[in-house]
Amino acid sequence: MAAFADEIKRRRTFAIISHPDAGKTTLTEKFLLYGGAINLAGTVKGRKATKHAVSDWMEIEKERGISVTSSVLQFNYEGYCINILDTPGHQDFSEDTYRTLMAADSAVMVIDGSKGVEAQTIKLFKVCVMRHIPIFTFVNKMDREARDPFELMSEIEEVLGIHTCPINWPIGCGKNFKGVYDRQTKQITTFTAAMGGQKEVASRTFDVEGADVDSIIGQDYHAQLRDDIELLDGASDEFDQELVNRGELSPVFFGSALTNFGVETFLEHFLNMTSSPLPRKTLDGQVDPFDEKFSAFVFKIQANMNKAHRDRIAFMRICSGKFEAGMEVNHVQGGKKIRLTQPQQLMAESRKIIEEAYAGDIIGVFDPGIFSIGDTLCAPGGKFQFEGIPTFAPEHFARVRQMDTMKRKQFIKGISQIAQEGAIQIFQEFNTGMEEIIVGVVGVLQFEVLTYRLENEYNVEVKLEQLPFEYIRWVENPGEVDVARIQGTSDMKRICDLKGNPLLLFINSWSVGMVEERNPGLRLAEFGRN
Ligand code: G4P
Repeated sequence: MAAFADEIKRRRTFAIISHPDAGKTTLTEKFLLYGGAINLAGTVKGRKATKHAVSDWMEIEKERGISVTSSVLQFNYEGYCINILDTPGHQDFSEDTYRTLMAADSAVMVIDGSKGVEAQTIKLFKVCVMRHIPIFTFVNKMDREARDPFELMSEIEEVLGIHTCPINWPIGCGKNFKGVYDRQTKQITTFTAAMGGQKEVASRTFDVEGADVDSIIGQDYHAQLRDDIELLDGASDEFDQELVNRGELSPVFFGSALTNFGVETFLEHFLNMTSSPLPRKTLDGQVDPFDEKFSAFVFKIQANMNKAHRDRIAFMRICSGKFEAGMEVNHVQGGKKIRLTQPQQLMAESRKIIEEAYAGDIIGVFDPGIFSIGDTLCAPGGKFQFEGIPTFAPEHFARVRQMDTMKRKQFIKGISQIAQEGAIQIFQEFNTGMEEIIVGVVGVLQFEVLTYRLENEYNVEVKLEQLPFEYIRWVENPGEVDVARIQGTSDMKRICDLKGNPLLLFINSWSVGMVEERNPGLRLAEFGRN
């Protein structure tokens, strides 16, 4: 029993978010290096290849050389068992990226010190805020010319609307990057670059009040640091674990993932400031992770990882208890008992079959086509459901036309199945039925994936005509308003999802506000509720 509880206590499950190129992959690799999961020596050059070996399952990923899906990595460090949920680093990320955040207990936001907060970070950050999960900031690339750290702090606060609390503070940057100052221990660690597979950084740590500081970091930098410390102590938010837990205050760290500077310090503080898996909400209560009875929810469905078998893998986050290979569970939404076979876990570079897993872990199980995003699995007899996963707003839309009208049935089957996996959303014209199909995606690459898959898996050729809409809003109170009579703008289009729920599409963002103004009583939502 103690062993069971200890297993859960030592787990930390977090997602890494960033704008492409901020250094998310590099930082993840350095984490794995500390955990001993990979030996980086000699692989830094072939990093891109390694990255692909981790998550490239679909043909299209290989063809395009980019990562379409998110992957999960597990490693051990200082007694902790860490699950990192990676999110695709390419511009064309998908709804999966958002959903991955539903499975994480906290998030690490990597920011490029020379760029600050970028578009993709903002989008992912919004989902973290919606979930009130702790967010940690790693300001990366301090070995390069970076923006003023105070300016970066205010940008994070203003753009993202979160308070920040620097845990350490940079001294210079780029060629003049001297190191970082730890605000708690009041010590300076000098910058030394560890390259390649080197784990130890031969830095020196000494007291900021020490006599030799001037000679080590230089008089000017020392004076600047004194001013900075005074300003920080006077003006910045104090560290407050409660606020961090609620996602209202982000601890900020400075470092350089590439040169392995500040990575281990970050990892240590992060592990101390985050908790083991927390209770998860159900429709009528919550489930304690330490409850011995197994429970999990599906947050991602990955199709055709092995083309020969046309299989699907359902990824689930375990919320309570222990999972054992081959165990029988109740699939609540399907109303059936099922046996979970071929459980898989991603371990650094390969998928492996696992025998057991605990609350906090992510596993992938073979899906014979029965699971949907958000489904609950629990120990036999259990009937509760975890809170649904919201539908995230697509940003690109296209009308889909089938080339061979004789294949209508296959087309509907294919597009519906692909939509069920959650990579695309399908809509119909308002009040006209299935004749015209509109697909919505979060990243445009999904259009290609859709066309490719319909052709290769369902033998249906389609043509996509992209539509100019970029904003979608769910009508929250369709019972209270007559959707057909909404006073729209010239760029507004009414559509509905397959369940008949009405939605509005807009080309311009300001039209959204205009329509809300023109139609008092109409409530529009950015996330769809399942
Ligand atoms: P991503 O996953 O967030 O997209 O970023 P990734 O780690 O792939 O890093 C993007 C680029 O930034 C890489 O260079 C990487 O080496 C570099 N980088 C990451 N962290 C640091 C850092 O702390 N300092 C500096 N100076 N560079 C950093 P690249 O040239 O695009 O790739 P590669 O040819 O080096 O593999």
